[in-house]
Amino acid sequence: MNCTKVSYTDSEALSMAAADYITESALESVRQRGRFTLVLSGGNTPKHVYRRLASPPYSETMPWESTHLFWSDERCVPPESPESNFGMAREILLRHEPAPPGNIHRIPAETGAPHAARLYEDEIRRFFLSGGEGKDWLPVFDCVILGIGADGHIASLFPGSWTLRTRERPVLPATAPEGISPRDRVTMTLPVINRARRVLFLVSGSEKKDVIRTLVHPSRPAANLPAAMVTPVGDCRLYLDFEV
Ligand code: 6PG
Repeated sequence: MNCTKVSYTDSEALSMAAADYITESALESVRQRGRFTLVLSGGNTPKHVYRRLASPPYSETMPWESTHLFWSDERCVPPESPESNFGMAREILLRHEPAPPGNIHRIPAETGAPHAARLYEDEIRRFFLSGGEGKDWLPVFDCVILGIGADGHIASLFPGSWTLRTRERPVLPATAPEGISPRDRVTMTLPVINRARRVLFLVSGSEKKDVIRTLVHPSRPAANLPAAMVTPVGDCRLYLDFEV
C-alpha cells in the first residue's frame, strides 16, 4: 500500500486531522478548479468526521456552495433506514444544510442494485461532462473517503468479488458476503478510486489491527485484499487511531 500512514492517539484526534485534510483539500480544489467533489463512505468511523464538518470551525471554513457530495457505496435500503449510508450522512451532516440540495448526488439504492448502479453511473457521467472535465467517462474525484473492513473490504468491494476485476465501469451492483447485512449493495469501483486526486482511509478500532498490519508490511501477502488494490495516482493517506 503506497499511502502515508499516520497513527493518532484516539478517534477524536483522527477525526480532527481528517476534517483538517478535507477542508484544506476543498479550499485547494475550489481555488484550482472552482469546485470540490467529495466521495463519502459509510460505516462508523467517518461519523465523527462528518460531525466535525457540520460544526464550527469546519462548517464555516468549508466551501459548501462549491462542494459536491457523492457516495462510495450504498446498501439497498430506503434512505430512511438506519442502515443507509446516505441516511447516516443526512442525519449527521446534511440536515445542517451545509451544501445546496443540487450538490448532493446520492445512490438511489432503494430502487434495486442493478437499476441504481445504472442511475448513479448516469448521474456521475452527467455531472462530470457538464463540469467540463473532458469526455473521459471515468471521473476524477477530488477526494475519496474510504473505511476498511476487518476482512480488507473497501466501499462494497469484498475480497474475491468479480466487481474487483472491472476496468471500465465506474459503478457496479454488488453483493456482500453471507453474514454481512444488508447483502445487496451498489459500489464505486477500483478504476474510479484509483483515479482520484486524493484518497483518505479512515480506520478506527483494534479489531482492524491485523488487516492493517497485513496491508502496511510489504512482506505479507496482501495482494488479494481490496484495500491493497487501492493505488491512486494522487495523494493517499491512511489515518489510524492505533499503532501498528
Ligand atoms: C459500508 C462501507 C464500508 C465501511 C467499512 C468500514 O457501507 O459498510 O462503506 O466499506 O467503510 O466496512 O466500516 P467501519 O468504519 O464501520 O469500520
